[in-house]
Amino acid sequence: MSWNVSSSFTRLATGWGTLALRLTAVYALAGLLMVLVSTASLYFVLVTELERSTGLFLADKLNVIRTMLRDRPDDLDALREEVELESAARRYEQFYIRLLDERNNPLMSTPGMMEQLDLQHFPSQAQTSPGRALSMMGKNGRPFRVTSAVAQVGSGSGETATIQVAIDVSGKEELLARYRYWFGVILLGSLVIFPLVGYHIARQGIRPVEEIANTARQISSSNLRERILPEGYPSELESLAGTFNQMLDRLEESFERISRFSADIAHDLRTPVNNIRGEAEVALARARTVDEYRDVLGSCLEEAVRLSNLISDLLFLARAESPLAHLHWACVDVRELLGSVRDYYEGAAAEGGISLATEDGQEPVIAEMDRTLVQRAVGNLVANAVAHTPSGGSVVLGAESEGDSIRIAVIDTGAGIPPEALPRVFDRFFRVDKSRSQVSGGTGLGLPIVQSIMVLHGGNAEIASQLGHGTRVTLRLPVSRPK
Ligand SMILES: Nc1ncnc2c1ncn2[C@@H]1O[C@H](COP(=O)(O)OP(=O)(O)OP(=O)(O)O)[C@@H](O)[C@H]1O
Ligand SMILES: [Mg+2]
Repeated sequence: MSWNVSSSFTRLATGWGTLALRLTAVYALAGLLMVLVSTASLYFVLVTELERSTGLFLADKLNVIRTMLRDRPDDLDALREEVELESAARRYEQFYIRLLDERNNPLMSTPGMMEQLDLQHFPSQAQTSPGRALSMMGKNGRPFRVTSAVAQVGSGSGETATIQVAIDVSGKEELLARYRYWFGVILLGSLVIFPLVGYHIARQGIRPVEEIANTARQISSSNLRERILPEGYPSELESLAGTFNQMLDRLEESFERISRFSADIAHDLRTPVNNIRGEAEVALARARTVDEYRDVLGSCLEEAVRLSNLISDLLFLARAESPLAHLHWACVDVRELLGSVRDYYEGAAAEGGISLATEDGQEPVIAEMDRTLVQRAVGNLVANAVAHTPSGGSVVLGAESEGDSIRIAVIDTGAGIPPEALPRVFDRFFRVDKSRSQVSGGTGLGLPIVQSIMVLHGGNAEIASQLGHGTRVTLRLPVSRPK
């Protein structure tokens, strides 16, 4: 089993640097965009409002003068006050008014208007539609908004005059310039502040992940007991920590199983070797007769056979786990297969006073399988059944089709298995009663081999047992070879 969890987490942890930068960039961009959009739209509203108020002011002035010219053309004092004096009283937003007669001769104008504006180029009424102001640059570079209109002098005289109105908008332009300046300052500030704040937030968010990665980095096969405390993390990371801990639980369990397995192998290999050694030492201690030597050699051979069986079982299990395990698939008549297993174990069963039989069935049960392997699996089950059934008991083998799978059952009326041991019988080297099995020579690899044969075929093995009444093992196999 490869132990590369820590290295994957290390890879994750080094990748976070760019994640923090990415989050920072997104946050900073979003912030900048927000500042840009809000200040730009405020600026736009301000410009529009200022233009509108200037336009309204000019239209208002035009209206007042136009009304005066129409209704009171002879009240020159009132007209003069409106045109010459009122503007002079203003300190900000100076405005200028000029009246021209029909031949464009100036009638009256606000003092100082000539100095401020190039009146030759004052836009004509045709250019300034009512209510709309045009821009005009003053002589000393001051910005103006101007408008003009033709008005009737008196009612019904047919005489007309041109009214020109101009207003100095340099105050408003300065306001806008100040706004633009602060806009720039805020934008520059945001350019610095947003990335800093964004980076801080991103680091804060990623810190728990780094902590998890650090813990993961410290975990090795020697301290698999280490766990990440899932408290204090945001819920998403809490579940990550939980999942990680569960993975560690599983790893710890498999490590324990592997080390138990190795200890069991060592123990089971040592017993026959020690027996051979002991017998040989005793035999060599003094001179023996030929018969005595023959006995010792016979029992050494028995132990050697036991050892070689154990080794081949272990090899079989190791090979069955490899993804390259190769099966010899063929269509097999399962009832016929059960018959040959029965024939093989008939002698042993008869010796123990047990009846061994196969159930008769009407239809043949045919399935695709590796005949040798399935025969070995059924053989292991029958060997168990015969070994654990007392004299007078019975062992029955049965097979039946069940949709796209087949079922093989080995049922005995033997000793049964205690419920607490039942879940463990498929574990390697597990034996319910070690002393009892030691006599019968079991190593506890029979059922694990059955299970791996089933896994190789895409099937499964189930066991049900009642202590003192008997055991039933069921093998389920697909009818045809899994794709
Ligand atoms: N039919 C059965 N009746 C009662 N106990 C059983 C039966 N089959 C298996 N067991 C119990 O389950 C244990 C595991 O069986 P398994 O076949 O894996 O090992 P084993 O028979 O002890 O050794 P091996 O099959 O490797 O020679 C047995 O030791 C036995 O205690
Ligand atoms: Mg067995």
